[in-house]
Amino acid sequence: MKDMAASLTHWSDAPLAWRDRLLSSAGFRRWAEAFVPTRWIARRRATQLFDLLAGFVYSQVLQACVQLRLFDLLAEQGPQTALELAPRLKLSAEAAERLLLAAVSLRLLELRPQGRFGLGALGAPMVGNAGLAAMVEHHAALYRDLADPLALLRGLPSKAHLAGYWPYSGAAAPGDLPRTEVAAYSALMAASQPLVAEQVLQAYPMHRHRRLLDVGGGDGAFACAAATHAPALQVQIFDLPGVIQGAGPRFERAALSGRCSAVGGDFFRDALPTGADLITLLRVVHDHEDAQVLRLLRAVCQALPSGGRLLLAEPLAETPGAEAMGHAYFGFYLMAMGQGRPRSEAQLRELLLQAGFARVRRLPTRMPLQAAVLIADLS
Ligand SMILES: C[S@@+](CC[C@H](N)C(=O)[O-])C[C@H]1O[C@@H](n2cnc3c(N)ncnc32)[C@H](O)[C@@H]1O
Repeated sequence: MKDMAASLTHWSDAPLAWRDRLLSSAGFRRWAEAFVPTRWIARRRATQLFDLLAGFVYSQVLQACVQLRLFDLLAEQGPQTALELAPRLKLSAEAAERLLLAAVSLRLLELRPQGRFGLGALGAPMVGNAGLAAMVEHHAALYRDLADPLALLRGLPSKAHLAGYWPYSGAAAPGDLPRTEVAAYSALMAASQPLVAEQVLQAYPMHRHRRLLDVGGGDGAFACAAATHAPALQVQIFDLPGVIQGAGPRFERAALSGRCSAVGGDFFRDALPTGADLITLLRVVHDHEDAQVLRLLRAVCQALPSGGRLLLAEPLAETPGAEAMGHAYFGFYLMAMGQGRPRSEAQLRELLLQAGFARVRRLPTRMPLQAAVLIADLS
């Protein structure tokens, strides 16, 4: 592999090697910092590199704010000084000020007149957002796994915290997992599902369909959103038996038991229920390796009637403007989880066609960072 890579060449190698030498040269960097027309580029690059170096600290500042429910507190009670906030946060005045100033520097908070702290441009969207808060909080497990990235890359994690959080990852019989083991991730998925449902329901008119099967549908959060959005739609979910235990109560609370139902099973062992003219796979495919994905997609093809349709939604690798979310965030997240990979639109398209779908197209979503939507038709 190494020898082969070394023998490959391309016409762009020489100019790029020249650029690399220039950017690696301390002399050139000093010149670019001193020369007024290039100074802004030099400063921007230095800041970008510093942000990469320090990003884990920024994440922990956000983690502390979320654990303290700071954004909700400021939204409810308005801007306050560090002295006022300290007892509410159960921190010393000095520690409160340190956290508040850090959050201001990250635009999570803003300094207001009279030394008070209010919500910032990045903190305000966190208010009342249980999904985002849950995502931040569960990162405590990922953070521990990433403490030694080389151990993770070499498959030698000392303790796999995130893999324990997602116990179906690598499980020989995920269908046997008890409710107690799947409850935490099911709650996280339900809390964050509105971020996905919003994108899917804006992009695709569900009311065209008679019956929807949401495969890997968790404990029914998307089923409820879809049934509410399309009042004539019948919705069924298929997920692990331990997971769907939460669906019945959710359907009852939403007064949707008449149109929503749940079937428990393992989609790698059990046949999917038939009868739906639309099947959805939301944030499911990226959890699995290619061979498993092909099996699942073939099972979906078999469960659909002729002319049936699959809607697949998840964040994609190589999303323009959000590239780091794909191969960096999901790439390392799924590696810590123990299985799965982020895929580009082209990679998913290829798997869908290989599984037996005839046509695949992408629908535009307003926030591709939250979810991209692919439609695959059997004919
Ligand atoms: C990342 S979650 C996504 C849940 C939901 N679609 C959403 O977007 O909120 C993946 C889901 O797939 C389910 N799942 C994983 N392996 C499964 C299997 N072998 N059979 C059935 N469901 C499975 C999990 O229980 C989980 O609910």
